[in-house]
Amino acid sequence: MEREAPTTRAAWERSCARIESALREAGAAAAEDLPKLEEVRVRFLGRKGELTELLKSLKDLSIEDRRALGPKAQGLKASFEAAVGARRAALEDASDAASLETDALDLTLPAVRAPRGRLHPLTTTLHEIARIFQLMGYSWAEGPFVEDERHNFTALNIPEDHPARDSHDTFYLQDLPLLLRTHTSTVQIRALESSRPPLRVVCPGRVFRHEQLDATHSAVFHQVEGLVVDEGVGFADLKGHLQAFLQQLLGTSTKTRFRPSYFPFTEPSTEVDVQCFFCPGSGCPSCKHTGWIEILGAGVVNPVVLKSVGYDEKKWSGFAFGIGVERVAMLLHGVRDLRDFYTNDLRFLKQFDESLL
Ligand code: DAH
Repeated sequence: MEREAPTTRAAWERSCARIESALREAGAAAAEDLPKLEEVRVRFLGRKGELTELLKSLKDLSIEDRRALGPKAQGLKASFEAAVGARRAALEDASDAASLETDALDLTLPAVRAPRGRLHPLTTTLHEIARIFQLMGYSWAEGPFVEDERHNFTALNIPEDHPARDSHDTFYLQDLPLLLRTHTSTVQIRALESSRPPLRVVCPGRVFRHEQLDATHSAVFHQVEGLVVDEGVGFADLKGHLQAFLQQLLGTSTKTRFRPSYFPFTEPSTEVDVQCFFCPGSGCPSCKHTGWIEILGAGVVNPVVLKSVGYDEKKWSGFAFGIGVERVAMLLHGVRDLRDFYTNDLRFLKQFDESLL
């Protein structure tokens, strides 16, 4: 249909009113599907559309008329465009919803992530400790939780009545000569019984002591035991291995110290402290105001122990160490309260990086 361009203000206003009412009747909101909506859009806003023509015809009016009518025409165009956009979105949503109803599988949708478990931070710490020693040629061995007195005490040079037994706060099994192991040093004896030197093993695992639960103590905790037995092994080897391990684990800038100590199954004995990560070094409740946190005990295997498992202590010598896994995990992750590891609060557990798996 050819339309005459309105050249007077009155004619223009009539055209505008006509288009406005046509828009109201056959406007965007009335389009029942996307092709109809496109028809309506072309009819009004296409290159030769009614509204397009009306806007073009503004140029034939006087400058005052143009100033007066221009904004009205632009407003009409803007609200029509907005109505087309809104209707298009509504029709597209409806068509998506309909295809979801009818199509069994929509491969374009993002996948729903299944909730995934991850390893506990104590497990990853234990794996990390064992991994470093495995790189240094140690193999992995495990032993039972329920032990006899010989493996837990006697063969380790802790005879009955030895005061060291008191400090272990042992859980005994009722009516049986058995106990829950108080340290992984039991596995030293088992390893020496089951294989011949040269020997390099790490034995990670759970240990039990009748302790009151607090920020740094638990009745169930974890250790990684290490044992090296060969000809001519001494304290210098122990120090070299442990220093290499600590540098791998904590980085070269972390300060550590070897402090003389006493264990019945090693002679000489030492304990290794790491500078407190929390203060650091100036003293705080986490390091009991010493600036240091003890993470392991170690020493040269007491010849009495080698003899107790039938070794010629003049030929063989070795060193051993026992690392506290909870202490290391606390240092690595800045955890001040050991109980956080055991309460299974998912908000706590979800913080740990899976890259350590
Ligand atoms: N078994 C000791 C404890 O639980 C730790 C330990 C100290 C282990 C010295 C060792 C060692 O192998 O040589 O406190």
